Amino acid sequence: MKLFLDTANLDELRKGAAWGIVDGVTTNPSLIAKEGVPMEQQIARICEIVDGEISAEVVSTKHAEMVEEAYKLSRIHKHVVVKVPMTRDGIQTCAKLSKEGIRFNVTLCFSPAQALLAAKAGAHFISPFVGRFDDIATEGMELIRQIVKIYQNYGFKTQVLAASLRSPLHVAQAALAGAHVGTLPFKVLDQMFNHPLTDKGLEQFLKDYAKAFDPAPAGR
Ligand code: G3P
Repeated sequence: MKLFLDTANLDELRKGAAWGIVDGVTTNPSLIAKEGVPMEQQIARICEIVDGEISAEVVSTKHAEMVEEAYKLSRIHKHVVVKVPMTRDGIQTCAKLSKEGIRFNVTLCFSPAQALLAAKAGAHFISPFVGRFDDIATEGMELIRQIVKIYQNYGFKTQVLAASLRSPLHVAQAALAGAHVGTLPFKVLDQMFNHPLTDKGLEQFLKDYAKAFDPAPAGR
């Protein structure tokens, strides 16, 4: 499974990129707004940091304007994937411009039926939101399982990008469900490293080695 960072924060992206395990980035208008830099400018900066697909979302809601915005965003860098919302206008834009070779990420997907429409429109990614379902006491991961199954049934090429992942457990479950990509906040990527037995084991290894080979303390 590819791991994307779901952030527009450059420090987080630099740290993640330095670990050598980040395959791409997703952003949304809320994440860009948090950084206080306009969309196109911030996306260009992100493309310089991470060598992978970078999702940049349109903010128009009407098809004609979405088309203009999609052209603009896709011209920023060859790695840009244009994100459109799962609406009639979004799907129309995706269907039209996918034929011209622009890659789309259809976002705000909350049902298998919506995912089917995105695949038929030629989307490169579908973004089902897991955590926001969990927020309303509904198991979000079931949506990932259903979409993976539907895409397999018909050989759709659209990749399932599990979004709104909030914990290492979510990431592991999305991988088990067969998601092609998981996008996660920096904090969750950082948490994925942790295990108390790793820390305990390392401490013991180093203590044993030091006991055997470190010079004896002075005076002994
Ligand atoms: O970028 C979309 C998605 O990952 C948002 O996550 O935590 O705001 O539901 P969240």
